[in-house]
Amino acid sequence: MNIKTLPLALLCLFYITSSAQQNTTEAKIDKLISQMTLAEKVGQMTQVTLDVVAKGKAFDDNKTMEIDPAKLDSILLKYHVGSILNTGTYAIPRERWHDIISKIQKVATEKTRMKIPVLYGIDAIHGATYTAGSTIFPQELAMAATWNPALIEKAGAISAYEVRASGIPWNFSPVLDLGRQPLWSRFFETFGEDPYLASQMGKAIIHGYQGDDFSNPEKVAACLKHYVGYSNSTSGKDRTPILMPERLLREYYLVPFAEAIKNGAMTVMVNSSEINGTPVHADYHIVTEILKQELNFQGFAVTDWEDIIMLYTVHNVAANYKDAVALSINAGIDMSMTPLDVDFCKYLIENVNEGKVPMSRIDDAVRRILRVKIKLGLFEHPYYDAKMYPKFASPEFANQNYLTALESVTLLKNTNNIMPLAKDKKVLVTGAGANLLNPLNGAWTYTWQGVETKHNPKDKKTILQAIQDEIGADKTIYVEGTTYDKDVNTAEAVKQAQNADYIIVCLAEKPSAEKPGDIEDLTMDRNQLNLIKELAKTGKKIILVLAENRPRLISEIEPLVDAVVMAYHPGNEGGRAIAEILFGDANPSGKLPFTYPRYTGSFTTYDYKKSEMRDPSFGMNAINPQYTFGSGLSYTTFKYSDLILDKNSIGFNDSIKVSVKVSNTGTREGKEVVQLYVRDEVASITPSNKRLKGFSKVNLKAGESTIVTFVIHPKDLAFVNAKNEWITEAGDFTVLVDGMSKGFLLSK
Ligand code: BGC
Repeated sequence: MNIKTLPLALLCLFYITSSAQQNTTEAKIDKLISQMTLAEKVGQMTQVTLDVVAKGKAFDDNKTMEIDPAKLDSILLKYHVGSILNTGTYAIPRERWHDIISKIQKVATEKTRMKIPVLYGIDAIHGATYTAGSTIFPQELAMAATWNPALIEKAGAISAYEVRASGIPWNFSPVLDLGRQPLWSRFFETFGEDPYLASQMGKAIIHGYQGDDFSNPEKVAACLKHYVGYSNSTSGKDRTPILMPERLLREYYLVPFAEAIKNGAMTVMVNSSEINGTPVHADYHIVTEILKQELNFQGFAVTDWEDIIMLYTVHNVAANYKDAVALSINAGIDMSMTPLDVDFCKYLIENVNEGKVPMSRIDDAVRRILRVKIKLGLFEHPYYDAKMYPKFASPEFANQNYLTALESVTLLKNTNNIMPLAKDKKVLVTGAGANLLNPLNGAWTYTWQGVETKHNPKDKKTILQAIQDEIGADKTIYVEGTTYDKDVNTAEAVKQAQNADYIIVCLAEKPSAEKPGDIEDLTMDRNQLNLIKELAKTGKKIILVLAENRPRLISEIEPLVDAVVMAYHPGNEGGRAIAEILFGDANPSGKLPFTYPRYTGSFTTYDYKKSEMRDPSFGMNAINPQYTFGSGLSYTTFKYSDLILDKNSIGFNDSIKVSVKVSNTGTREGKEVVQLYVRDEVASITPSNKRLKGFSKVNLKAGESTIVTFVIHPKDLAFVNAKNEWITEAGDFTVLVDGMSKGFLLSK
């Protein structure tokens, strides 16, 4: 609904109804809180993992994942726990999920005194990753590469449908951390390096997850991760210290979170690391003052895994667990992912009884949690019938997944238009990623790290299988070459290359996430690089396909290959999308959502500062990435012309219209992402080279042209000044689109 177009009377009715709804919700919460004991309130603030209520040992890969009724009774009736999370290890069929969730909700809503439903949360970060047979989408980095928010909203809607079809109403997604530290193990979980792009993608996926009302049985509540600054550790290793001036935090890292909250997100998960010496779980300024007061966040903040415990075992800002509990709850944490025991409850009760945590803080946290449970409709429908979801894993969903993968794949190099490849030629397909689904999906797929092969669906295609379908098995030679980190039969690959017209080498990083994904060297595995070096000696043309968790350096071998296809983690339909692009059934349209570094000594982002450009005078070139942000080739050509600004000078209450003509000058239909950048020429804080301010993906037939327009308001030109305030300064600005630029003046 577009409320702007509603007549006034209807608009009034809309506001009256929504504020009446709000009053009813708050009245219901008041009533519940007034009846709850301290232990029951603390229980609502506690989240345990499924293992705590399931049969068998935690993290046992062989267990059947069944509820243990005695354990469940104890957790819900004795400790009044209000939230449960996770998988207990691997993806299970959705029937099993319904059995688990219905048993939990039955006890919660029938046997507990307050009858408050449990809020179950899961990491469904690119589809219902822990439900067997679900639609597994590209990971977020690949989603960002589509530069197509409408596609990502649909991906979010399908994921929500399949998560709710599994009985689960709360999704620990999206990750809104920015991918600006290429070493970070969770780079692939981000929407890339730019706050504007990440905000647009975040908004789209959240609307897909939540719709306009997440009590809808096909919707879930989103959880924004990991509030805030988590991705930018100095060392690049996961959960290590972050040094970040608040100015930078606000101008970059906070932006996607603020946008998501404005767009209805009701839960956030907090960054496990420290910023400037304060663990975020103990940071009153970040969790209470910024999130709850400034951003007016009405939902709740959940910790990440064991992060209150970490305050005394890892960060040493508390002497013991009990002090850590007081520190974090007073900082503004509302729910603790404890999650392997319930000691948190005991310590929080003691802290309240000793006056170390005020009751008002407890009531505030419980109010926020209940607000989400009510908004989700859990009191009326703790779970829905599994039969309500006939479209689960349907061909319609698979097709939408395929379209998403297709628009994500990014062609980064295509010397002499070697691609698309002719279908009547013979190809050698080799490399660690050639015949494995896992690197196409990445971590958080069927298991946490996504490395196990036994859970993979049988009907989804690897790159090799999709190429065989595309051109026929008789024209495809397969040699493994290497694993992720070992030579298997490079010599055999070289031998077989003699019988092929082209070589397709699929390099792949072993899927991983969080601490297990920490690395010591950003360079791609040596054995995998060596495979290309040896194959290059044959003189045959090489097409490189990359499926990786982050931009592993390839500068040693890049000049040896003729084409580079960035696949990111394109999901379960990725094999098919890649094969169709390789052989020209589809035209690539992905654009890189980050700056791909060339050297370990030169990590830059596209929005670098002028001072970073001085190296050439000293014989170096710091701004020399392997591939630039926003780049990506097509099988057709686009020409940009007629960059027009409707004014060359505006005031602070004005706006400026930018238009540009884009023409498809090639011979086939294609999609192009028109990117609008602005440079602030002089500012009180050193301005960036340029900043992304708008984009639009257009589809053009051969010979077709279109005019794309953008509107820039003075607020779009704002930055955060030395006092940590958003400010727009008058002066000269330059608009940049493709190779063209035009200036305008903003005057007081
Ligand atoms: C991760 C979160 C995740 C949580 C629950 C943590 O270790 O950092 O992203 O949502 O586990 O699985």
